[in-house]
Amino acid sequence: MKKELVKRLLRTHQVFCLVRNNSTKSVDNFLKFYSEQNCVTNKYRVLTGQDYVRFISKKNSLREPALTRLLAALACKMDKQAISLAEGVPNEGVFPYTRLQMDTRDGRGLVIEGKDMAVALQYTPSQGLPALLTEIRQFQHDLHRPPPIPRDVMVTNGSQQGIYQCIELLVEPGDPVMKSEYSYPGINVALKPYQPEIVNISEDYDGLVPESLESTLEDRLVRGLKMPKLLYVTPTGSNPAGTVIPEERRKKIYDLACRYDFLILEDDAYMFLNYDEVHPPSFLSLDTCGRVIRLDSFSKVISAGLRAAWVTAPTALLQRLELHMQAEMLHSCTLSQAILLRLLSHRPSLVSYLQNARALYRRRRDALQGRLEAHLRPLADWCTPRAGLFIWLRVHNVDDVYNMVFQTAFERGLILIPGNAFQYDTSAPCQYLRLTFSKISFEDMDIAARHLADIIRDEQRRTLHKEPQRLATER
Ligand SMILES: Cc1ncc(COP(=O)(O)O)c(C=O)c1O
Repeated sequence: MKKELVKRLLRTHQVFCLVRNNSTKSVDNFLKFYSEQNCVTNKYRVLTGQDYVRFISKKNSLREPALTRLLAALACKMDKQAISLAEGVPNEGVFPYTRLQMDTRDGRGLVIEGKDMAVALQYTPSQGLPALLTEIRQFQHDLHRPPPIPRDVMVTNGSQQGIYQCIELLVEPGDPVMKSEYSYPGINVALKPYQPEIVNISEDYDGLVPESLESTLEDRLVRGLKMPKLLYVTPTGSNPAGTVIPEERRKKIYDLACRYDFLILEDDAYMFLNYDEVHPPSFLSLDTCGRVIRLDSFSKVISAGLRAAWVTAPTALLQRLELHMQAEMLHSCTLSQAILLRLLSHRPSLVSYLQNARALYRRRRDALQGRLEAHLRPLADWCTPRAGLFIWLRVHNVDDVYNMVFQTAFERGLILIPGNAFQYDTSAPCQYLRLTFSKISFEDMDIAARHLADIIRDEQRRTLHKEPQRLATER
């Protein structure tokens, strides 16, 4: 019985080949994350279910489905009304809420009521609200045109949950994991319990350097070291550096994944905040062989609190993530998913929100940069971030900014993030600061830049006189 159910569910798992094709015509250029010239090469073999076994951690491989969750998913897929004594769900009649109304900036508003409200307040399959999954599959197809291999999507509670689940899925204690030297702290905190060997790959103004990746892998191969199974990368608007990896580099990195047999965890939380007009193709759009797990998030552009995000992965891996979801939290919030569904189903509104968000952040980036130009040269240097929300600034003649941030700046009422926060080893010295331009008022930008200049001058004087470092107790 159990086996039959599992088989039936797996058979009905949607893949991208099943999505509607007619709506792709209307895809706006703004939503284009693929290249027309993507040569689908047959140079490398497509991974099959058996191939993924070598990537899946022992811990994840021990996960088993809960029969109750399988039934919940099955019940949602039944087209005719069935009588059920099975599902352990509450009766919506006892819930106090019957209708949700939200005003929106475009005046269209959002109302969830009646049957939709009952669904939004109820348990849902671990993979996600079925109608939302259909919408997301179409969205991914339209935006990325991924090569047609079996893959699917799952709604996550923010992309941080996707990161956490993917680490559990793929990493064994002590495993080598590749990433850039400075990266989003969420990946580091997810990795720490595994005590991995962190393999730092060099970055420049164009992001991850494929030549550095290749020489690192070749060197490990020659020396007989364990080969990494995973590369974590934020291709657009890396946090903290704000770089965007150009198309050619993405293709080279993908090629290396096939040659050296690793998977790419593409964390693209800033994809809509790329200030260049042309979007390079996503790794998902290049994924001819089934080596990309992609994380999407609306946190920076629609709402961080909704936890509106999803993971796209080869079906064999996605099913393992779904088992994690079952065990961890059953599913992410249905009400949030119902709101996300409304948003995704009206593309023109969505595009206008996203375009507005990008324009607003671009103005803020330029404004903060202007203030830094006025006050910070030549105390520090930085490059214009091509995407994202941050300016990554290197302070001159200060070996470690930690003390400066936690002592001097705090005393003057300026809160800063030291670059140490983006290193795997946060105790290692760092010359960088990450400055966020998303919310600070335009007036405060000038005050902050002036304060920062004073603080750096003080710290440089202190460094010159070799006063003790690391006085702060926070760590
Ligand atoms: C690169 C990156 N990935 C993921 C996240 C987390 O996003 P979410 O809110 O979707 O969990 C962030 C948040 O700052 C981020 O910078």
